[in-house]
Amino acid sequence: MENMAPPRYVYNAPAGTVRRKPGEWVERFAPLVPADGPVLDLACGEGRHTMFFLDRGHPVLAVDQVTEGVEDLASRPGAEILRADLENGNPWPLEGRRFAGIVVTNYLHRPLFPHILAALEEGGVLLYQTLALGHTRKGRPSNPEFLLAPGELLDIVGGELSVVAFEQGRVGENKQAVTQRICAIRKPPGQAMDDIPLHPDPDFGAP
Ligand SMILES: C[S@@+](CC[C@H](N)C(=O)[O-])C[C@H]1O[C@@H](n2cnc3c(N)ncnc32)[C@H](O)[C@@H]1O
Repeated sequence: MENMAPPRYVYNAPAGTVRRKPGEWVERFAPLVPADGPVLDLACGEGRHTMFFLDRGHPVLAVDQVTEGVEDLASRPGAEILRADLENGNPWPLEGRRFAGIVVTNYLHRPLFPHILAALEEGGVLLYQTLALGHTRKGRPSNPEFLLAPGELLDIVGGELSVVAFEQGRVGENKQAVTQRICAIRKPPGQAMDDIPLHPDPDFGAP
């Protein structure tokens, strides 16, 4: 069809599969991640957010227990790929590393939260989104171990990070997925929330 814009952020992954587009929460708040700062894509899967942040000029460390899906990104400047099982009781594999942005989507292993928060440098931005309780009614997973409790992400970052945005509820096609998502920032000392621009476009979201 003429004049049809090509889809944004649909990439060819190895074996002819197609990378899904980045989550809209990640896309929306990515501009808050300090420019050129290193990003961690934890439990990166096929690396849709790894590629998204590489495209935005960030160095990205992509971590997953299965890294075949991101092999095609390994040669990209700034890309680093780490295969690691994050749940086998081994020490946190990123000890001492700090990131300007940490993105975790569709993954939950609660013992990692202290490490995730500690890995966020001053001014750094946490973008976290995963399924929440209530999703049990809609499909898998049904085990509450893998589902956030109401307000849980707020409780986790509370006291340590400043919340820029938080949502919980049904999203997606036919509102099938019950999700919870947060954008929170480790403010440098002295910075007020009203110093934080929510979007680089000055007209975006204006009242
Ligand atoms: C549903 S996928 C989400 C992928 C990606 N974050 C996204 O939203 O597109 C969950 C990912 O968690 C990874 N994962 C599950 N258990 C893991 C573990 N013990 N250690 C490391 N990664 C794990 C899986 O390999 C998978 O890639």
